[in-house]
Amino acid sequence: MKSISIRALTLSLVLISKTCAQVVSPSSNVTNVAIDLLDASHILHFLDVVDAFGHVSSRNPDNSSQFIMTFAIAPALATSQSLVTYEIDNATAIQLTFNTSAFPDVTGVVHAHTTSVIPFAAAGIGLKAQMGVAGSLGALTHGTPIFDFASLPTSVLPEDAPHNLLVGNEVLGNALAGTFSNDSAVVLMTGHGMAVRGTSVRNVVFRSYYTMENANVQSTASFLGALAMGGKPPTGLSPRVAMDATTTNEGVSLYVFRFR
Ligand SMILES: *[C@@H]1O[C@H](CO)[C@@H](O)[C@H](O)[C@H]1NC(C)=O
Ligand SMILES: *[C@@H]1O[C@H](CO)[C@@H](O)[C@H](O)[C@H]1NC(C)=O
Ligand SMILES: *[C@@H]1O[C@H](CO)[C@@H](O)[C@H](O)[C@H]1NC(C)=O
Ligand SMILES: *[C@@H]1O[C@H](CO)[C@@H](O)[C@H](O)[C@H]1NC(C)=O
Ligand SMILES: *[C@@H]1O[C@H](CO)[C@@H](O)[C@H](O)[C@H]1NC(C)=O
Repeated sequence: MKSISIRALTLSLVLISKTCAQVVSPSSNVTNVAIDLLDASHILHFLDVVDAFGHVSSRNPDNSSQFIMTFAIAPALATSQSLVTYEIDNATAIQLTFNTSAFPDVTGVVHAHTTSVIPFAAAGIGLKAQMGVAGSLGALTHGTPIFDFASLPTSVLPEDAPHNLLVGNEVLGNALAGTFSNDSAVVLMTGHGMAVRGTSVRNVVFRSYYTMENANVQSTASFLGALAMGGKPPTGLSPRVAMDATTTNEGVSLYVFRFR
């Protein structure tokens, strides 16, 4: 059964790549429908209305001749990257509804308000990999980059715009994306939380969890270091170890950030 769904998925993707002529960036109407579709898929699965099969679709709010639905994937597993726009007339796949060609190496992003992580940006201290499973944090001397609303130029955050820490428009989004270092998968957000990027949704869930765990370890090590070593910060992993551990634990090289 697994091979059947993989074949169906491959077929959908082949159909998409064959028929995709141009890329249209989705409107906010399409985004709203997509959010509802994904929530609906997950709720229907949770309520046992659908199992591995079954699906929910919506007419494209921007074009009544089209509809939006996932390709062949269990509703529980549906993400924005599973949504396809189809012809109503003949169910031909036209294109992926959300085309991620803008950041080709980033296919999953988590944003979270993890309270064990927030103190680091508050103290102006970046996270640094302290254990192999958190290697994707990198081993930069000053730790992960910090996105600080208070130090944004007025070209990014005009005086009269709300200073509410929310990344609510494209300019702020670009500024946040530009804060990522090639050597780390994480940006800390002062007073807010963190942004984590990954090569897939699964990968970014792994990274988010171990970023939280690393924050706990780094906090404890800092307290112990202050007691035992007169305030010396924990040494953490070397760049080489952080990188090799990431390759071993995630099957993904940190070089993906360096060279792509
Ligand atoms: C699209 O969204 C705009 C504002 O968000 C709304 O005014 C408009 O009615 C929507 N169009 C459709 C077809 O839903
Ligand atoms: C609406 O969808 C139809 C069928 O895919 C397509 O031929 C037509 O060009 C679309 N209209 C617009 C305005 O994009
Ligand atoms: C499917 O329907 C659309 C809209 O009517 C049409 O433009 C397209 O050529 C059809 N594709 C196929 C493969 O029949
Ligand atoms: C995504 O967009 C790129 C161009 O930016 C295009 O070449 C590619 O075919 C698109 N892929 C899909 C699956 O729609
Ligand atoms: C980071 O990677 C990007 C994309 O490959 C590249 O353009 C940039 O020069 C790299 N920056 C550094 C500091 O290595």
